[in-house]
Amino acid sequence: MKIGTYYYPEQWPRQQWERDFDNIAKLGLQIVHMAEFAWFELEPRPGEFQFDWLSHCLDLAKRRKLEVILCTPTAAPPIWLSQRFPQTLPVYEGQVRGRFGGRRHYNPLSPDFHAATRRIVQAMADLFGDHPAVIGWQIDNEYSNPFDQSEITHAAFRQWLRDKYGNISELNRAWGNQFWNTYYTDFDQVLFPPSRDPRYANPHQSLDASRFWSWAFAKYNRIQAEILKPKIGRRFLTTNFMGLHPDCDPGDMAKDLSLIAWDSYPVTGHEKEGDDQTYRIADPAHISLSHDLMASYHNRWGLMELQPGHVNWSGVPVRLYPGAIRLWIWTAFAHGSEFVTTYRFRQPRFGIELFHDGLVGTDGITPSPGGEQFAQVIAEMRKLDLSRIPPFADEPPRPRQTVGLVLDFEQLWYYLSLPQARRWNQGRWLASWYAALSRLGTQIRILRPGADWPSDLPLIVAPGVQMVDDQLMARFDAYARSGGNLVLTCRTGLMDRTGQLWEGPWASPILPLISATIDGYDSLRDDRFGKISFDGRDFSWGVWGDQVTPKAGAEVLATYSDQFYAGAAAITRVKLGKGTVSYFGAFSEQPLVDAFVESLAKFIGPGRLQSQTLPARVQVLRRGPYRIALNYQDQPVPTPAAPSAKFLIGSSRLAPADVAVWEE
Ligand code: GAL
Repeated sequence: MKIGTYYYPEQWPRQQWERDFDNIAKLGLQIVHMAEFAWFELEPRPGEFQFDWLSHCLDLAKRRKLEVILCTPTAAPPIWLSQRFPQTLPVYEGQVRGRFGGRRHYNPLSPDFHAATRRIVQAMADLFGDHPAVIGWQIDNEYSNPFDQSEITHAAFRQWLRDKYGNISELNRAWGNQFWNTYYTDFDQVLFPPSRDPRYANPHQSLDASRFWSWAFAKYNRIQAEILKPKIGRRFLTTNFMGLHPDCDPGDMAKDLSLIAWDSYPVTGHEKEGDDQTYRIADPAHISLSHDLMASYHNRWGLMELQPGHVNWSGVPVRLYPGAIRLWIWTAFAHGSEFVTTYRFRQPRFGIELFHDGLVGTDGITPSPGGEQFAQVIAEMRKLDLSRIPPFADEPPRPRQTVGLVLDFEQLWYYLSLPQARRWNQGRWLASWYAALSRLGTQIRILRPGADWPSDLPLIVAPGVQMVDDQLMARFDAYARSGGNLVLTCRTGLMDRTGQLWEGPWASPILPLISATIDGYDSLRDDRFGKISFDGRDFSWGVWGDQVTPKAGAEVLATYSDQFYAGAAAITRVKLGKGTVSYFGAFSEQPLVDAFVESLAKFIGPGRLQSQTLPARVQVLRRGPYRIALNYQDQPVPTPAAPSAKFLIGSSRLAPADVAVWEE
């Protein structure tokens, strides 16, 4: 795995460039990103290119054997573009046109913006497409914008709807426009909503709006991808996503990119739940869920921006736990990342991000704690024989040591538009299952509804897949019948893909699978918890609880032990064909999910699922011949290595935020 950093030569005096590149190389970094946001420096006037400085910097990099990820600068449109073509600027609610300044001040659907994009990207591709220092291209930066309210966008939304529905009655049906008589008689009457929150308007429209907005970015991205592809040979093509950020479903762009990348800022003081270790070391499940999601598209992924220390934008500038950054880099390695790069090399002296740490301070010389940890990992990695690690895509599947977790971006969108329970957080719910599954020490495969799933997984968990279709239901059914162990949770199968409830019993499509009915649900006020009794112990829940009535063959594994429905079933399991289906009816706190997964793994048995029980917040993964243990606790834990383990890094005791790598 290669390690590197963003560098913005245009932000520093030219006479310092040589020294900066020297220091980048001296720190052991192998990759430099350049040109991100540098549109004005590259094209100071329309069509007038100024590429010599970038050519020079590419040569400076090459001379030091640094590899370059070249970025297209389109996330920061220049003043001449905004001024000459104000239609390229976004329009906000109330028809307020955005202004030049900051970045991302563009409408991805603007034809004038497309024309300007084509010109700069074509020129860069022609000149640098096959530059020997360049190993890959990053398109734009972190696609996301508020829902645009310009006429251009409304018109594009209408066309998208025409293509999707064909005629207006189909749209009226899909959006349930009988409700409050909100019928349209022509597509031309429809507006693109100002946000995902339907504000008492139409949740089905909001769902389509989320789909459309992701499609709009994908369409824009394709403009750049189609210019670059013929010019860059076998170099990778990517963009940097933001994990589960709702503006872009990476799946909409995957076929235009050859590697999927994301930006990880794991500690920002935003964490609402959790303890000091989450606050300073981070939640390993949230990080890893996004890593594995990125891996799920092409088995080729990269960690593009990794938080290097303090950030400027969170409002709570947490001081990181010592060693946290090193731990994050090794985590990316353990999950198969092709590279880890960080934003940014030098802390800036000016601009909105001047409080943002770099690998070195503003002087360009003194390593920050983050810089020291990057250097430490680079030195540690030299102890591994990387030639013994096959590319992630070629790693042989390990069916008995791999479990599946279903993640469908569309569900994230609909929960944001129509949460029903204020505390329902689908990202948190997915991470909760991820955390429990990773304690088994198995690999977790993210399964997306439209993609291929390995056929022989011993266990698949599908948390909160609220909208389903016949295809997905058939897949669940076939998986269990052929011997799989399927876990469905509360809020699965409630709706069709338009987000409308079934005309029939609650969660009808899953009832034959779980052999039960769901007779009611409950939710408790913030900071209030109910109890569920499982395996002789009481566990807390609060966000959502289904009361389940088992039918023939279903076994009750857990019941509510308080509220007026005490005694009702909360978790059930039934045999289906050669396999089983468990229904986990409550969005509970973590300990119940952990305990359930642990007992399910025992039930499945070591013949089918080779697992162990790791301490919470500890991951153990395998890359080639190496095993990597990652401790996200602020307490020491024993390293789960066999006595015969040959340690390359660390030892039989993992200190807080520590890493061990061994062969056994
Ligand atoms: C990222 C962004 C970077 C930089 C960074 C600051 O979201 O892509 O360009 O702004 O945040 O943490």
